[in-house]
Amino acid sequence: MNNLKTGENLPTSRPKVSVYIATSIDGYIARKDGNLDWLQYGHTGDEDYGFKKFISSIDALILGRNTYQVVSGFNEWPYKEKRVIVLSNTLKEVREEAELFSGELSELLSKLHSENIKHIWIDGGITASKFLEAGFVDELTVSVIAMILGSGIPLFSVMNREHRCRLVTSQTYPSGLVQLKYEVIK
Ligand SMILES: NC(=O)c1ccc[n+]([C@@H]2O[C@H](COP(=O)([O-])OP(=O)(O)OC[C@H]3O[C@@H](n4cnc5c(N)ncnc54)[C@H](OP(=O)(O)O)[C@@H]3O)[C@@H](O)[C@H]2O)c1
Repeated sequence: MNNLKTGENLPTSRPKVSVYIATSIDGYIARKDGNLDWLQYGHTGDEDYGFKKFISSIDALILGRNTYQVVSGFNEWPYKEKRVIVLSNTLKEVREEAELFSGELSELLSKLHSENIKHIWIDGGITASKFLEAGFVDELTVSVIAMILGSGIPLFSVMNREHRCRLVTSQTYPSGLVQLKYEVIK
């Protein structure tokens, strides 16, 4: 029972949990200063890499504090009409479009399940790693951008367990982006 190692209690029933994230070839999700300009590398036209379909399938997003702070600096709040939960042990409040949570992830998932949330998107590298470590990630969609950044904010943090995955689909795009969808084997 790997979950017990993390101190997390496994909720008996919980929403489906997906990570949907873009990375450089060398495994970074942002430049060191958080800049995301490179995500557009090679991009032309109006290809959305399945994003609209994905976002329409989720009921809520869980963002790490670092991702929340970057997104809050955008001209427009990008998650209109979606429930957004920000994880942080340091923030005291978040903008009105979001909710703040600090506590056990199992407790959060149970609460969301009881509120009829069926599918959650987890965003942020540290946050995705914490959910993985706790055994709560069902599906990972990783879009690899044809770019080597050399340094930056890593996709995953160090974790104390391994995760076997099953490749569900792989799709290549003219921009050079390769999208890999995995199921996390429990
Ligand atoms: N390429 C992409 O698709 C993509 C996607 C998302 C984000 N990004 C970029 O990645 C960067 C942010 O990622 P990141 O890995 O540095 O951080 P992150 O996962 O966004 O945020 C980490 C923070 O979230 C809080 N947190 C995480 N798990 C928690 C838990 N179980 N309980 C309480 N708080 C928890 C902590 O905040 P406190 O320290 O406040 O406690 C932690 O320091 C940004 O630059 C963002 O733009 C890129």
